[in-house]
Amino acid sequence: MTLEQLTKNIQIISIICNQWGDTGKGKFSDYFAANFADVNARSGGGNNAGHTTEINGKKRIFHLLPAGIIHDNKGKVNILGNGMVLDLKVLNQELNELDKENLFYNNLMISQDANVIMPYHILRDQKKNTSQKKGGIGSTGRGIGPCYADKIARRGIFVRDLFNEDTLSKKIEKALEFYPELKSTLSKKIKKYLGFYSEPSIDKDQIIEELTPYATRIKPFVRDTISEMHGFVKNGKKILLEGAQGLLLSIEFGTYPYVTSSDCSINGVAAGVGLPAKAIDLPLGIVKFPYMTRVGAGPFPTEFAGQESEKYCAKGLKHDIKFELKIHEIPFEEKNGNIKYDHHHEKIIELMNSDDSFLQGVGIRLSGEEYGATTGRPRRTGWTDLVALKYAIGINGPNIILTKPDVLQGAREIKLGIGYDKTPNFTRDSDLLKTCTPSYKSFQGSNEDLFQIDNYRKLPPGLKQRINFVEESTGGIVRIVSTGADRNQTIIK
Ligand code: IMP
Repeated sequence: MTLEQLTKNIQIISIICNQWGDTGKGKFSDYFAANFADVNARSGGGNNAGHTTEINGKKRIFHLLPAGIIHDNKGKVNILGNGMVLDLKVLNQELNELDKENLFYNNLMISQDANVIMPYHILRDQKKNTSQKKGGIGSTGRGIGPCYADKIARRGIFVRDLFNEDTLSKKIEKALEFYPELKSTLSKKIKKYLGFYSEPSIDKDQIIEELTPYATRIKPFVRDTISEMHGFVKNGKKILLEGAQGLLLSIEFGTYPYVTSSDCSINGVAAGVGLPAKAIDLPLGIVKFPYMTRVGAGPFPTEFAGQESEKYCAKGLKHDIKFELKIHEIPFEEKNGNIKYDHHHEKIIELMNSDDSFLQGVGIRLSGEEYGATTGRPRRTGWTDLVALKYAIGINGPNIILTKPDVLQGAREIKLGIGYDKTPNFTRDSDLLKTCTPSYKSFQGSNEDLFQIDNYRKLPPGLKQRINFVEESTGGIVRIVSTGADRNQTIIK
């Protein structure tokens, strides 16, 4: 099938993740922004996300701006929707990056109804949730949870409040009453992570003073994006909704409490731009395949080496990419902070095929370069869990994009999780899920290079057999297979 055939009579597409995030939303948001959409919108989360795009070998990571922003000069509109939480300093930094590259952002719209991440949100997140070692859920520490908590508790600061001094002042004053713990001395460690201000501040006037230049910079872009969106729909514009995180991290559907604080499902993605879910004609759920990953704490039944891997990855940057490359003696080059190495190096293939499942997980992490785009933390790795996928499909719908099958080139055996011993279905009961042992279907691996393949029929028979198995056992319909990081490495089924 061609892209034209896939998108015939389609007005709204959403790119959402059916797992725990980091599945390749950036690549596909960029793909549809370039080839389909007039309007690109992000709808939920904040700078906990890191959406990676790679175009002609140039890698960019956006934490807030929709990946479609690089097509603004073609007249495309980019929206930060009402469901988002915005760290204004980070947003300003991303705009500076665009300036440096002479990229336009004339058509950027920032929702007046998005919430603002305040310094006290970051401080509370740092104190309560970040450290996985200390039993926290391993949040990204960007203030996401506390900001959404304030929104729900009706003391959130909206973008529109930034431009009304009196309202802003009263709201901050009221909100600060709920942060008594911040009166205690702040540790240096916490200061290090602060995204919003150079120095932590819980003083109302100081907060406003520091906020003002950031607010002034974004003011020309602030709009009632809900009404704008309704206008775009009415005028037949093609719209791409770019989801963040993943279904299994959703506050509504994920492995609570090991979740983020927004609804990352099709429902949240639509609500976060002011639309009903049924307005989305083609929701595309991304699935990393045949391995998957998770960052932070929480159940992951098919994880290689289970708790051992979770504990190891909880050490975060201590076990970052450089550490793993060095310890396994894999040569690499470092240029301007970017690390380059041969992802199919013989030592990586050896690790991937190890009988020791911990090392197998490390091999797949290195082959897929699975390190957090936002935090640099090593991602936990495991086989793709079809029980979880079936659950995700029940919510996000059957249309699937499979990403990263090329990563396992050289693996002797490939497995897919097909059941648990303690429950017939996926469960949000994290305590139960943690104790589940999965069963697997085993497939022979292959060494074929997917790099040059541009047609579904030409894919290796083994891969097509596994794809058929996924469809039969989950009710999913695979629409697209990704064969590499570049936008062009995309096969429509
Ligand atoms: P928070 O969103 O920073 O509150 O983090 C809550 C949980 O979601 C933690 O386990 C994070 O590692 C995870 N998380 C948040 N954003 C992402 C993402 O973009 N990709 C993968 N995991 C994420």
